[in-house]
Amino acid sequence: MERRTIGIIVNGVTGRMGYRQHLVRSLLAIREQGGLPLKDGRRLWPEPILVGRSETKLREIAARHGLTQWSTDLSATLARPDVEIYFDAQLTSQREKSVRMAIEAGKHIYTEKPTAEDLAGAVDLARLASSAGIKNGVVQDKLFLPGLLKLERLIRGGFFGRILSVRGEFGYWVFEGDWQPAQRPSWNYRSQDGGGIVVDMFPHWHYVLEQLFGQVQAVTAHVTTHIPQRWDEEDAAYPATADDAAYGIFELAGGIVAQINSSWAVRVYRDELVEFQVDGTEGSAVAGLRNCRIQHRAATPKPVWNPDLPPTEDFRSQWQAVPDNEEFDNGFKAQWELFLRHVVEDAPFRWDLWAGARGVQLAELGLKSASEGRRVEIPALAE
Ligand SMILES: NC(=O)c1ccc[n+]([C@@H]2O[C@H](COP(=O)([O-])OP(=O)(O)OC[C@H]3O[C@@H](n4cnc5c(N)ncnc54)[C@H](O)[C@@H]3O)[C@@H](O)[C@H]2O)c1
Repeated sequence: MERRTIGIIVNGVTGRMGYRQHLVRSLLAIREQGGLPLKDGRRLWPEPILVGRSETKLREIAARHGLTQWSTDLSATLARPDVEIYFDAQLTSQREKSVRMAIEAGKHIYTEKPTAEDLAGAVDLARLASSAGIKNGVVQDKLFLPGLLKLERLIRGGFFGRILSVRGEFGYWVFEGDWQPAQRPSWNYRSQDGGGIVVDMFPHWHYVLEQLFGQVQAVTAHVTTHIPQRWDEEDAAYPATADDAAYGIFELAGGIVAQINSSWAVRVYRDELVEFQVDGTEGSAVAGLRNCRIQHRAATPKPVWNPDLPPTEDFRSQWQAVPDNEEFDNGFKAQWELFLRHVVEDAPFRWDLWAGARGVQLAELGLKSASEGRRVEIPALAE
């Protein structure tokens, strides 16, 4: 079968996201399935060009996966005519200048979130990309999780009636790094390096809320650093300057109230690392990464408050699992396939740098709400 090869710079490929989710689980997985079938009968064949700072690490990753192209020189690689897409999974603080270079080189852009460290930078990238006329997209992987796809199916099917509220609980204990190594890179806990849970997670909450429930109109957040000292990759103690927990209230169009706790200083007593409970007039659901459970109005028990008695009902058992009814692919890969079709076949793709900028805006205004101790309204971005 005829192949159409597409050169893709993967910058930040030595990192957690760049390597595992984007290179191995997405681009190489597409190659393993024989490429992406195109409408014209050809197969789209991603050709990753690994870019980073360490020649040794790039060479090692390339060899491990039978890849031949890697470089420590981004400018030179951007100048290659066979490179069509620039993808960025570097740590957040490095993103804006590299994406800007890639837009100037006329490449299509696909990038991890947050798209920039502040709103001005994120809007600037969106404007530059729009006026350059290049295709652009931002990773919004949570939308492609099985649990959230099932939740979306319930919403589109009218299961909830009028949606009243959303309660999100995200987080887990990230070890401080002294007696057990931390399971996340230390830059996440230093604000001077682009860290912080608000900057990391509010962009996710923005696209989840906007796409499933409605426009986010106001935010009230309380943000804190529960663990003030951590130990880095070299076992050296450092002050945690970035927030590690955020308690946010988001007011959505139509009067829906979303309240989401995000924390790296919480122990999990939940079924999944993130869960959203949605309550509506006709029914409720609890969706996690993979699973989704529902309780319909007609099957809702009538508990009576009486602290003198032990619980009389097993509340968890009163919920019903939503069936898969389809096969769910890796969310990162599913979104890569849509982006590749957008570039090659001009298929629609809504998750662009403007959507990314709205996520950065929510993070910025969430931090403003916390520092000023007040509710902050979210103005529409002038595209
Ligand atoms: N979509 C998601 O669910 C998700 C999850 C985690 C992280 N992310 C995003 O992905 C990006 C990468 O996060 P990660 O957890 O993979 O980080 P990581 O620390 O594991 O990887 C960072 C990458 O950036 C590179 N890099 C470039 N310049 C650097 C510099 N000056 N200092 C240090 N590293 C530098 C590193 O070599 C590495 O390849 C972040 O922007 C983060 O917000 C997204």
